[in-house]
Amino acid sequence: GHTRWATHGRPSDMNAHPHASEDGKFAVVHNGIIENYMPLKEELIAKGYHFKSETDTEVVAHLLEDMYDGDFVGTVRRMLNRVDGAYALEIICADEPDKIICTKKENPLVIGLGKGENFVASDIPAIINYTRDTYILSDGELAIVTRDNVSVFDREGKPVDKEVFHVNWNAEAAEKGGYEHFMLKEIHDQPKAVRDTFGTHISEDGKTAIFNELNWTAEDVAAFNKILIVACGTAYHAGLVTKQYIENLARIPVDVEIASEYRYSNPLTDDKTLCIVISQSGETSDTLAALKEAKRLGAKSLAITNVVGSSISREADNKVYTWAGPEISVASTKAYTTQLVAGLLFAVYLGQLNGKLNPALAEEILSGVKNLPSLIHEIFEVDEDMKAFAKHYGFKSDAFFLGRAIDYAVAMEGALKLKEISYIHAEAYAGGELKHGTLALIEEGVPV
Ligand code: F6R
Repeated sequence: GHTRWATHGRPSDMNAHPHASEDGKFAVVHNGIIENYMPLKEELIAKGYHFKSETDTEVVAHLLEDMYDGDFVGTVRRMLNRVDGAYALEIICADEPDKIICTKKENPLVIGLGKGENFVASDIPAIINYTRDTYILSDGELAIVTRDNVSVFDREGKPVDKEVFHVNWNAEAAEKGGYEHFMLKEIHDQPKAVRDTFGTHISEDGKTAIFNELNWTAEDVAAFNKILIVACGTAYHAGLVTKQYIENLARIPVDVEIASEYRYSNPLTDDKTLCIVISQSGETSDTLAALKEAKRLGAKSLAITNVVGSSISREADNKVYTWAGPEISVASTKAYTTQLVAGLLFAVYLGQLNGKLNPALAEEILSGVKNLPSLIHEIFEVDEDMKAFAKHYGFKSDAFFLGRAIDYAVAMEGALKLKEISYIHAEAYAGGELKHGTLALIEEGVPV
């Protein structure tokens, strides 16, 4: 099955996975995007195939039928030569029941190893209740999964001796922990997530930000003359806040780019650029592509990510982890706050290395960071007030979030969250900018 939103076409039963070939022999579940699906679809339609869905995925099912010569694995391999894009694919064939073939490119795929049962999923939380022993597939690898066996092969078809990755999260961490829904739980996870993230990054005397995983010197920092932050969505908003931290505390100029735009912007990135990518999942394909492009242009790279072993963490030269734990609610909450904490600590680290940050201010900031978990707890006390607030504003159709400087960046995340969770249209504006035209939309009753 598949529970994510459709990438092509509206979310509907018809567009939901699995997708089957016309003869019903093959069924496919796919996460990702088949970029050349249009020409393939036209080719298959010309051959007489009928498409039931609006998805890109359905071409995979029809292609398999079209190319099938009785050899399931061989047909999958030949099919893969025809598709471009990103995918985690699971395929079954009626001629060889009790067998799943799965493979991946730029999208995560996890195989859970059980006794008399095995599992295939895009993410560990989906299988953690059944097993903790997993194989994490690498790009180009193909696995044949049956009830009792998992065989993994490389691109050339040679067997791969996979190492078992044992998941050591607590099963409960992936459960709702008594909350009504995951988003509420994850909002309440923030004190712990923030504490785990600043964890070892503040020296015992509270005076210094430490990043042992980087271990940079003043010369390392002097080697770049600007910083580029690329990310998507919430992580992009965390990047906008991080820009302010770094420019204020380390006085290094920072550009923040939306990852999906970066590749197409003829970027001014070179070997004097530090490229920071921020990604909760570590798998967002636009962010990964931007990271690769920045590296190609010579930039030094650093990933701020929540998932150890993710594609982005593997691609980046340096990594700093946020320790938000699994984020199951689609909307980012605790991941965002941990990204802010990591960004702030990193800015202090840079400012201390290049001598631009006043030591007393550094100490004050670090002590503030340590205080965050208890301050976040205090916010939970207003949960009941929030309910009253929601009753009042929950039926509005528009809202504006205003702020200046860091608050403007935070306002953007507020507007995104309101749109995403309440389906209420919201916009963020810089405090002084609203009067330059948009004021026309402010009438009585519009919350600002
Ligand atoms: C919003 C949200 C998204 C993600 C974005 C990037 O609540 O969750 O905007 O922030 O898709 O995802 P990551 O951080 O995994 O790269």
